[in-house]
Amino acid sequence: MTQPYSDELTARFGFDVDLGGTAEENPWIRQVLLRRTQRRYSDRPVPEPVLRLVIAAALSASSKSDYQQASVIRVDDRGQRERLAALVPDMPWTGTAPAFLVFLGDARRLERITSHPVKNGTLEGFFNATVDAALALQTATLAAETLGLGTCPISVLRNHIEKVGDILALPDKVFPVAGLCLGYPAQQGFISMRLPPEVTVHRDRYDDGATAVVAHYDRRRDARHSLKDRQKSPDIFGTAEFYGWSEDKARQAMSAEGAGFAAWLKARGFDLTK
Ligand SMILES: Cc1cc2nc3c(=O)[nH]c(=O)nc-3n(C[C@H](O)[C@H](O)[C@H](O)COP(=O)(O)O)c2cc1C
Repeated sequence: MTQPYSDELTARFGFDVDLGGTAEENPWIRQVLLRRTQRRYSDRPVPEPVLRLVIAAALSASSKSDYQQASVIRVDDRGQRERLAALVPDMPWTGTAPAFLVFLGDARRLERITSHPVKNGTLEGFFNATVDAALALQTATLAAETLGLGTCPISVLRNHIEKVGDILALPDKVFPVAGLCLGYPAQQGFISMRLPPEVTVHRDRYDDGATAVVAHYDRRRDARHSLKDRQKSPDIFGTAEFYGWSEDKARQAMSAEGAGFAAWLKARGFDLTK
């Protein structure tokens, strides 16, 4: 018997993932399984109450130790937005999205709420603030999608950390995790196929023995959405006869991003060796 999420699981993973039984019907889970990043938006503005609701939902995300180390900047000013968008011209949706938020890890507030000598510039402080901001980002994404909006995170801002820090007037121990474009989608977009659970889900202990299965995933994904004509850095790596997700991601990972980030954090009060 086909189970209720058969179509959605096939859309997400490229095959009908076995749930081990019939799971209960839930329209929101269907929507999550079909979710997708959107990079083209209609001109329709995001109504103020909708934007505030998305932010309120984002700030409802779980928070490590209730430290509440996520902060959000609404970039409402057109000039401010254009300054950010100019840093990433190959991602024009940063400028064209009707609304734009920046999710910050905020390890500063914990030090400022007290006269106690709280030292939150350690790896733990940085990591906790990053996780809080990431959870808020994803909660915003799911809330926005539930309300019919499309979103796209923009972490490439961190590749221009000095300028972003200046534009947003970020003080010590406050750093961007990612921006978030929001708007009503102008196109359907596409579902990005995920690695099969046998690769990403381990039982009782870590086991990467299923890595060979990734080759099948590459083929499955290629059959739906080929990257053959969008090969990265062919001048360096050549043109591959078969160009799947693995090759694409390996090439991407070869050109390190965020080169100045560690030094920037260090200059702003973080000592990640502690
Ligand atoms: C933390 C984070 C940062 C991202 N940064 C960017 C970015 O800078 N530019 C962009 O176009 N997409 C960005 N994305 C979107 C990813 O490319 C996208 O989530 C991924 O391709 C999977 O697609 P899906 O979200 O549609 O499933 C980011 C996503 C995350 C979670």
